[in-house]
Amino acid sequence: MAEPPLRTLYGRRRGKPLRPGRRAALQQLLPALRVNPADHGAGRLDPHALFETASAPVRAVWLEIGFGAGEHLTAQAKAHPDIGFIGCEPFINGVARLLADVARGGLDNIRIVVDDAGLLLDCLAEGSIERAFLLFPDPWPKRRHNKRRFVGPRNIAAMARVLTDGGQWRMATDHRDYCRWMLDHMTAAPDFTWLARRPGDWRARPEDWPPTRYEGKGIAAGQPPIFLGFQRRPRN
Ligand SMILES: C[S@@+](CC[C@H](N)C(=O)[O-])C[C@H]1O[C@@H](n2cnc3c(N)ncnc32)[C@H](O)[C@@H]1O
Repeated sequence: MAEPPLRTLYGRRRGKPLRPGRRAALQQLLPALRVNPADHGAGRLDPHALFETASAPVRAVWLEIGFGAGEHLTAQAKAHPDIGFIGCEPFINGVARLLADVARGGLDNIRIVVDDAGLLLDCLAEGSIERAFLLFPDPWPKRRHNKRRFVGPRNIAAMARVLTDGGQWRMATDHRDYCRWMLDHMTAAPDFTWLARRPGDWRARPEDWPPTRYEGKGIAAGQPPIFLGFQRRPRN
């Protein structure tokens, strides 16, 4: 069978030079918390095994794609000490910021992929992730760049493979066209059901869903965010 085409990461990996505190957090914490997808074969990584060194066993693993500065990830990790979290973020300044908060909060239930989340999806074992978050992903607004959007047939199929039966994929955006794109792609995907029952379900952020920096930016720019939740249908 032909190999699938290689994944391409769009977007930046580095920004301004890091402040000393963040550089120190990166140097001290990242080696122990980093997960390198290249170390694992396709579909072979049991993510629960990444948390064997955590102080308490984890009952499930959740995944955040593009965590930015990490405020949602650290808030969820604090609220759910019985869950293991994998955060994917290729932008090293965001990773450094997250790690400074991990050190401050003494959190030991977060692991990090400093790369394209698609690479992690490819190596995760089937049905190994209970919940995934994709919050305010880059909208790639120009039509010719729409194919760079994270939500698309390849990543939807990959997410359907790694989610547990009944697992959830939560997404948010403040970009109208990307919202329509998410809904078009996800409602056409046979493995997912949209959980919304009434308009309030997509207009209001659920209470167990802490706000992010980009949500704040969207609101300040007069672009109300939309919150979407999809459930992985049970496998037959
Ligand atoms: C617009 S920012 C949103 C950050 C954060 N989720 C928030 O709401 O504040 C999008 C983030 O996704 C990251 N990103 C882009 N492509 C990605 C990919 N393929 N895998 C993981 N993260 C990605 C970017 O580096 C950036 O930090």
